[in-house]
Amino acid sequence: MDRVDLVAASAFYPPVMEALTAAYAVHPLYQATDRAAFLTPLKDKVRGIATFTSRVDAGLMDALPRLEIVASMSIGLDHIDLAAAKARGIRVTNTPGVLTDDVADLAIGLMVAVSRRLVVADRYVRDGSWLKGPMPLERKLSGTTLGVLGMGRIGQAIAKRAAAMNMTTVYHGPRRKPELSYRFYPDLAVMAADVDYLVIAVPGGPATQHLVDARIIAALAPKGAIINIARGSVVDQAALIEALTERKLAGAGLDVFEEEPRVPEALTRLDSVVLTPHIGSATHGTRLAMGRLMLDNLAAHFAGKPLPAPAV
Ligand code: DGY
Repeated sequence: MDRVDLVAASAFYPPVMEALTAAYAVHPLYQATDRAAFLTPLKDKVRGIATFTSRVDAGLMDALPRLEIVASMSIGLDHIDLAAAKARGIRVTNTPGVLTDDVADLAIGLMVAVSRRLVVADRYVRDGSWLKGPMPLERKLSGTTLGVLGMGRIGQAIAKRAAAMNMTTVYHGPRRKPELSYRFYPDLAVMAADVDYLVIAVPGGPATQHLVDARIIAALAPKGAIINIARGSVVDQAALIEALTERKLAGAGLDVFEEEPRVPEALTRLDSVVLTPHIGSATHGTRLAMGRLMLDNLAAHFAGKPLPAPAV
């Protein structure tokens, strides 16, 4: 039987790419220098797009009129034009659940790294500063208050880990979750004023664009720190940089940025900031699990079966 034709909008973790190419006729759009020339001969055969974080917009969907499904190897969907997919009857799938632990682990790691200045401490040992005297004391993390913005699966996994560190967790989100015992704040600014760490765990996209703006940052100041393992778009990065530069905020742990992989130089100069290159789900096991779920979504769709992880 002929293999189904798919466009790969992104390069994938090699074992995932291997499995994808074993099951489908994969056309690597991410390698194309001339997008239109690449897509034109495919327009009557491609039925699916597989993507990681590469943009899938209305133009790409229009270039592939037989397109039935966009399968993303991610929990986030902000790189996909969901309205355009809906209007064209194209299904969209993602890979929730399998990356929860990794992302929550990283959020805790960034909190520890920010409060105890682990990056500065590492440099202190390597550059011989320790020989001249001890490093200044830093802030205790255990026992402080954590405000989670977005108490979904990942937010709850972070809260669970924070409980082991005697942290008090509170949260803000679109609605109170009666099944959770953490205090709910209907107003994000009020929560920001009450917490030591604001951890961002909401999806990106227009609904959350700059949700953490200068007003929220001011409410968190001066003792608070921001940890962002969600999407750079949720934070007004310029306002954050200004607050950090003027030492109005205790610090930030950032895994995501507004224009990845470009990170403003101002951030790289600040000792109160710990930066990681969007590695929330970047472990071998998790990337394999994400790939497997993406492949399961595709297989279910082409077999006419229920999708394991429909996104909308
Ligand atoms: C996700 O799954 O959305 C991750 O951020 C991709 O790296």
